[in-house]
Amino acid sequence: TGVWQHDNIALALWLLFTGECERIETRKTMDKRNTDVNQLETIKQQKIIEELRKSYKTEEERSGKKKTYHIVTFGCQMNSRDSEKISGILKQIGYVETDSEDADFVLYNTCTVRENANNKVYGHLGYAKKLKENRPGMLIALCGCMMQEPEAVENIKKKYRFVDIIFGTHNIFKLAELLQTRLLSDRVVIDLWKDTDMIVEDLPSDRKFSFKTGVNIMYGCNNFCSYCIVPYVRGRERSRNPEDIIAEVKALAADGVVEIMLLGQNVNSYGKNLTNPISFAQLLKEIEKIDGIERIRFMTSHPKDLSQELIDVMKDSTKICRHLHLPLQSGSTRLLKIMNRRYTKESYLDLVERIRTAMPDISLTTDIIVGFPGETEEDFLETMDVVRKVGYESAFTFLYSKRTGTPAAAMENQVEETVAKERFDRLLKLVQECSAKAAGREEHTVQKVLVEEVNAQDPTLLTGRLSNNLLVHFEGDKGLIGKIVEVYLEESKGFYYMGRLLEK
Ligand code: SAH
Ligand code: SF4
Ligand code: F3S
Repeated sequence: TGVWQHDNIALALWLLFTGECERIETRKTMDKRNTDVNQLETIKQQKIIEELRKSYKTEEERSGKKKTYHIVTFGCQMNSRDSEKISGILKQIGYVETDSEDADFVLYNTCTVRENANNKVYGHLGYAKKLKENRPGMLIALCGCMMQEPEAVENIKKKYRFVDIIFGTHNIFKLAELLQTRLLSDRVVIDLWKDTDMIVEDLPSDRKFSFKTGVNIMYGCNNFCSYCIVPYVRGRERSRNPEDIIAEVKALAADGVVEIMLLGQNVNSYGKNLTNPISFAQLLKEIEKIDGIERIRFMTSHPKDLSQELIDVMKDSTKICRHLHLPLQSGSTRLLKIMNRRYTKESYLDLVERIRTAMPDISLTTDIIVGFPGETEEDFLETMDVVRKVGYESAFTFLYSKRTGTPAAAMENQVEETVAKERFDRLLKLVQECSAKAAGREEHTVQKVLVEEVNAQDPTLLTGRLSNNLLVHFEGDKGLIGKIVEVYLEESKGFYYMGRLLEK
């Protein structure tokens, strides 16, 4: 016991010395306090939603008309899910959705990952201005990632004075409050938060599809890839508690959802910063147990954090879809280092090999940036080499776009546009060749398909999705939408299949 005591005293002294004790304590009390604050916030927002609902109802009875809203969503799945939350709040207030921007309340949920994403928003604002001139009382709101950039907001305040509400990515839960403030004053309401630990649970949300939806498992990003603006506009990485996620998924399943997409900028690092850490793979195992959930997808996986544990869990799972989006960005180890991606060409290829060995039928897709500062022809050829070796099912290719405030924007060796464009075209061609080669792998097989919608071009057909994310069109009754059915894939058309529904 002497030694034991000695060790404990040494440990206590060490903890005191490093301040670790105090930090652990503070962290626990903070978690508790945050939970209380978050619950109070939920109650407050629900009260405001209720107040607005009553006054909208009175207005509706007087005018005989319901107020309409429309959301234009730019960017990634994060924004799509945020738009569902916005939609949920507005529907509770009493708004009905309409399919054009000619509405009583139009919201632009913006993206700023590349310059052209910003330009699209300005284009829409020009149109909205005209609509507002003919529609007195129309409200226009801007939210999302671009609003987290002070320069963009300054520009809007100066040049787009008809905008009524501006908010960011951290305070979507406050929408009802912001709307109420705007209705009580005649000035623009701007509410922007730089960053927050706050995760407000239990507010309403709507779903674009009744049978599938995204579920946030974490917010923000800590990776600071040197080209990327996301960590600056989405804040620090914070994981939701597993209990909250599981409760949400159970409620979704009870409400008819069969497919969920777990969302995070880097799902593979889920849970690391929780008081009781849990891995992403462990979370997946828990979610798998939920009855009614038939398919699980997730987005995005950072190659540096994709664990063997995850590969093993995926391999043994019947619910986790056979698709991995594994952003490469560049195939050059030299550039990957400057990009701060923290993997090498070799470790990436090794990872792909391990994934393919475990799951030969998996579909791999990726993101690639062309023209990152200092990219040489040799660097670019390394990227081409990885693309050829992996043979992606499909890939999103992007021309590097300079984002103010990121380390890469300050690099002096920016690549000339013509050079980048020429490389981009070569890469695109190769990506298309790889997709064509990978296409048709499932031809003449029977696959499980989630029926998603009536085909837009040919209403006699239904459109569904395979586990590997490819689409199939086949004849069938629209009562099958939202169900998982078996389809024989008769013919591959490259990006999609034509199939025949098998009777049960
Ligand atoms: N969290 C995800 C990516 C989110 S952004 C991940 O790490 O994979 C989506 C994609 O946009 C990135 O994968 C990257 O390929 C691209 N992208 C990000 N910043 C960019 C920039 N400045 N220029 C061009 N493409 C960029
Ligand atoms: Fe951007 Fe990198 Fe974070 Fe993805 S992991 S969001 S690319 S900083
Ligand atoms: Fe765009 Fe924000 Fe997503 S910048 S890509 S919408 S996280």
